[in-house]
Amino acid sequence: MNSDELMKRPLEMLEEIRAFEAKDAEELERFRVRFLGAKGLVKELSAAFRDLPGELKKEYGQRVNAVKKAAEEKVASGRLRFGEKKGKKKADADLSRPVQAFQPGSRHPISLITDEIIDLFRNIGFNVAEGPEIEDDWHNFTALNLPPEHPARDMQDTFFIQRDPDLVLRTHTSPVQIRYMEKHKPPIRIIAPGRVYRVDNDSTHSPVFHQVEGLYVAENVSFAELKQTLYYFVQRMFGEDVEVRFRPSFFPFTEPSAEMDIAWKKGGEKKWMEIMGCGMVDPNVLKNCDIDPDRYTGYAFGMGVERIAMLKYKIRDIRTFYENDIRFISQFKSAR
Ligand code: DAH
Repeated sequence: MNSDELMKRPLEMLEEIRAFEAKDAEELERFRVRFLGAKGLVKELSAAFRDLPGELKKEYGQRVNAVKKAAEEKVASGRLRFGEKKGKKKADADLSRPVQAFQPGSRHPISLITDEIIDLFRNIGFNVAEGPEIEDDWHNFTALNLPPEHPARDMQDTFFIQRDPDLVLRTHTSPVQIRYMEKHKPPIRIIAPGRVYRVDNDSTHSPVFHQVEGLYVAENVSFAELKQTLYYFVQRMFGEDVEVRFRPSFFPFTEPSAEMDIAWKKGGEKKWMEIMGCGMVDPNVLKNCDIDPDRYTGYAFGMGVERIAMLKYKIRDIRTFYENDIRFISQFKSAR
């Protein structure tokens, strides 16, 4: 073949490729072998490269590349139409292949920690109580000594889902205290785990998070008992040598009120993380539930489950819990 003929061949092939329409997978495969196979036409065209004079080589190379690309595109689009079968038809299933081992899932760290908290309090006589996540104003605020317009309502940025009468996504698990005391008389000793909601979003706050509430109401309940109960809890949860501190605080539903912090290390430096609020149940709250505050006293606490899990598992960003990255959530094992 002279140079002219050689230069024309890729153009003829391009036309052939463009006109080609496979009617089934077998025909497509024959097309593939003819153009792109080890001894196919593209190989043959490439081999002719060396027979051309230097000034034509560049142009020729581009034409051969165009042929190769067009053939590959035909094959790819044909495979989409006929399915992915490559080469010889394979048996539909290999019946001798071993079955895949069943992969048991793992529980979410928030569920694990919640259950651990429940277990620890069950051991010392607390029962589990639950309440709704959509709450009315009375249970979420007013009965907890947070009347309408009380500035302390600002501490909890609320998702209102209805006004007048107000319905909210509960901002804490404390309304379960009210619901329980409306139905039961002392002695009362409950914990209430559950989801709560606030308009809040950063590395230590999530708009949906979890709390466990505690309530103990009986005759002669003292602040010393509250402290001892919480020491018992944190020592079991974090180990005997855990370092804690109580800070005076304010909550409308307890008097006096405190917050409990746990020490953690950040590069050798001691830091404190707040894990719960607590205090002695305010007499007004007992009255709102028809419990005589002259006869009964009580303590209450509310802890953040995520905060406890972050401390226990050394997790820096609360959002990690909700990304549902299997590599993260499959690392946690039940302590039970
Ligand atoms: N409900 C409070 C909050 O979400 C936490 C809390 C503080 C609960 C003191 C209590 C308590 O039961 O006594 O911020």
